[in-house]
Order: sequence, then structure tokens, then C-alpha cells
Amino acid sequence: MRFLVINGPNLNLLGRREPELYGTATLDDIEKMLAKKFPDVKFEFYQSNSEGTLVDHVQKGMGRAFDGVVLNPGAYTHTSYAIRDAVAALKIPVLEVHLSNVHAREEFRKHSVIAPVCKGFISGFGALSYELAVHALLEMKR
Ligand code: DQA
Repeated sequence: MRFLVINGPNLNLLGRREPELYGTATLDDIEKMLAKKFPDVKFEFYQSNSEGTLVDHVQKGMGRAFDGVVLNPGAYTHTSYAIRDAVAALKIPVLEVHLSNVHAREEFRKHSVIAPVCKGFISGFGALSYELAVHALLEMKR
């Protein structure tokens, strides 16, 4: 199995950014945790603060190289039709994940323009959200 794990803007700051909301694990910690917990999965990890390069990376899921995508679009969750359209073009499952429970926060975070074209949505479990998403992708492939 080969999974793409894509993180959007400001997620490079994890560990230092509002730890009361997002926890103290860095993005590197989360990526290492996934690689350790799922030794049989080949991960490609990617983070960008730019919408266009995130679209480019989601498009990497169009070939035969990957079996699924774990996507935390950060604040683009709430605004990016471009990322939504890129996700909609994929034939492999995309799971939207969030560290925080976006439904327990500001009104604008309660709406995702991307979730409707994803296979599923996991929010509120901190770093565990990513692990749960990988479990779900693996279960769907069995
Ligand atoms: C987030 C939630 C978004 O609303 C926010 O803009 C982020 C992080 C999360 O993982 O909880 O950057 O995607």
C-alpha cells in the first residue's frame, strides 16, 4: 500500500502553534509515528503553505502510484474550491483529517468545502486523527 499524507498551511508549525488546540507533537513526530505504526505502508509525506502546490500534490494521486490519501487542508478546508476539484478528480479514497474538532470551534470552521468529495472525515483526535485515517484506508482496501 502506498499512501500520500498531505498537510496544508501552518501545519509545518505544529508543536509550536497553539498547542492547546493542536497538541505538542510536531509534523515530523506525526510522520515518524505513522511510519513506525504502519511499517508495511509506503508513505509520501508532503506539506505546503501554498494552495497551488497542494493542488499539484493532490494530483499526484491520479496515477497508479498511490492507493489512498490522508489530507489535512488546514484553513484551505473552508475556502479552497481548487483543492476540492483536485480531490474530486481522484479515483482513490481521500480522507480529510483535522487535529482539532472543527465543529467545536468558530462558525467558519464548521464548513468544509472539501469534505463532500472525500470518502470520509476524521476530526478532533489530535495526532490520532492521522492514525485512524490510515487504519480506515487499510480496512477499506481489505
Ligand atoms: C485544522 C483546522 C483548521 O480549521 C485550521 O485552519 C488548521 C488546522 C486542524 O487540523 O484542526 O490549520 O485543519
